[in-house]
Amino acid sequence: MAHDQGEQAGNDVMDAIISLAKRRGFIFQGSEIYGGLAGTWDYGPLGVALKNNVKSLWWKRFVENRDDMFGVDAAILMNQNVWKASGHVGGFSDPLVECKKCHHRFRADQLTDQQKCPDCGGSLGDVKQFNMMFQTHVGAVQDDSSVSYLRPETAQGMFVNFKNILDSQHPKLPFGLAQIGKAFRNEIAPRDFLFRAREFEQMEIEYFVKPAEWRKIFEHFVSEVQAFIKDVGLDSGKVHELEVPDGDRAHYSKRTIDFEFDWPFGRKELYGLAYRTDFDLTQHASSSKADLSYYDEETKERFIPHVIEPSFGLDRTILAILCDAYREDDLGGEKRAYLKLVPAVAPYKVAVFPLLRNKPQLVAKAEEIFRSIRKAIPAIIFDDNGNIGKRYRRQDEIGTPFCLTVDFETVEKGSGVTLRDRDSGRQERVKETELIDHLLKLSGVRTVS
Ligand code: GAP
Repeated sequence: MAHDQGEQAGNDVMDAIISLAKRRGFIFQGSEIYGGLAGTWDYGPLGVALKNNVKSLWWKRFVENRDDMFGVDAAILMNQNVWKASGHVGGFSDPLVECKKCHHRFRADQLTDQQKCPDCGGSLGDVKQFNMMFQTHVGAVQDDSSVSYLRPETAQGMFVNFKNILDSQHPKLPFGLAQIGKAFRNEIAPRDFLFRAREFEQMEIEYFVKPAEWRKIFEHFVSEVQAFIKDVGLDSGKVHELEVPDGDRAHYSKRTIDFEFDWPFGRKELYGLAYRTDFDLTQHASSSKADLSYYDEETKERFIPHVIEPSFGLDRTILAILCDAYREDDLGGEKRAYLKLVPAVAPYKVAVFPLLRNKPQLVAKAEEIFRSIRKAIPAIIFDDNGNIGKRYRRQDEIGTPFCLTVDFETVEKGSGVTLRDRDSGRQERVKETELIDHLLKLSGVRTVS
């Protein structure tokens, strides 16, 4: 009973988040006017802003603030031999069962009853392995030689460029390649909004190390993943590290930690951190015949580096942020829903309002203040639509941390503007001359590292 109630509450929260995301222009169902395409999602203006903020925090932490990381943006389509060597053609599959009666298909490992169809109660067929890569043909000829795949992970785009980075950048170990980009998996059962999609984005690092140093560097990335979780404002109390046991890890991994998150639909993976050994470079070296070894000038040794891979789902980050930030409360006797986003990820840091839209002197002053703040804080919005209460609710729902109102005192007495805090609803008066510094300090955008 309690379990059912918990499940119902989780479903209600997810419904509220999905509806807010659509209503306010964060995320829409893919191809919606045609009835949708399962497992695809389109980001609207606010979703793009949120996503870009997350990407830029990630890029700052893992690339710009370090001397040992190189950015890469590899092609999504790759030579089919990449996926043969990586093991994806042979083994990137999930167990599939089909109902003999209604022909609905399920992931066998997610069914509680392996015999009966959860949709119609019909009996289920044998379990088959279903390869999750989307296959296509490159060029006009459709034969075996033109087969290619939409990449199911960004990782391989970095392994195949290892030699290019060595030859062009001459880095010393340890160093890493970092990439943000789309990945595609033909999931048997896409579900839970952005959680399991067929098209999604990953932010991945392949960090090359001397074999003896992998443990120390693995621990370093455990802390860096935790730090990034804080950067985007997630409650670290909802994140749990799971040491993935032997037998459950991917074929290439000798150690994996899953960073799991308490989603409204249960505790499930958010990110992964894996020790991929020298598996990928060795496979690609033997399959392509390219020399993917590294020569250590100090020890005069030549060897294939080992790899630590922190892998972050971008869309899962967005979903975790929305789930963690979504709140409902009573403010001034009125119910409201709001997003308690940290300023660093909020699509807009500040909203500027004239108290009344039909008073030209208020509108002109508000526009002047809007323009001056925008130079220092570009993520700012002007809003004079509807009454002030409605404007507050709208900004609360999209997670804008501060609303700034120009009223009669601003223009008649020069006594500054009111600044309202999203979470408490409290207002303070701030002098115009101190406004930008005050906002920069409050929103922390100047100090994000
Ligand atoms: N290169 C390693 C790799 O791809 P993975 O655990 O299969 O490992 C890494 O995926 C991350 O990508 C996951 O932790 C998750 O955040 C994200 N991810 C994987 N499949 C996904 C899907 N179908 N929809 C959304 N995100 C997904």
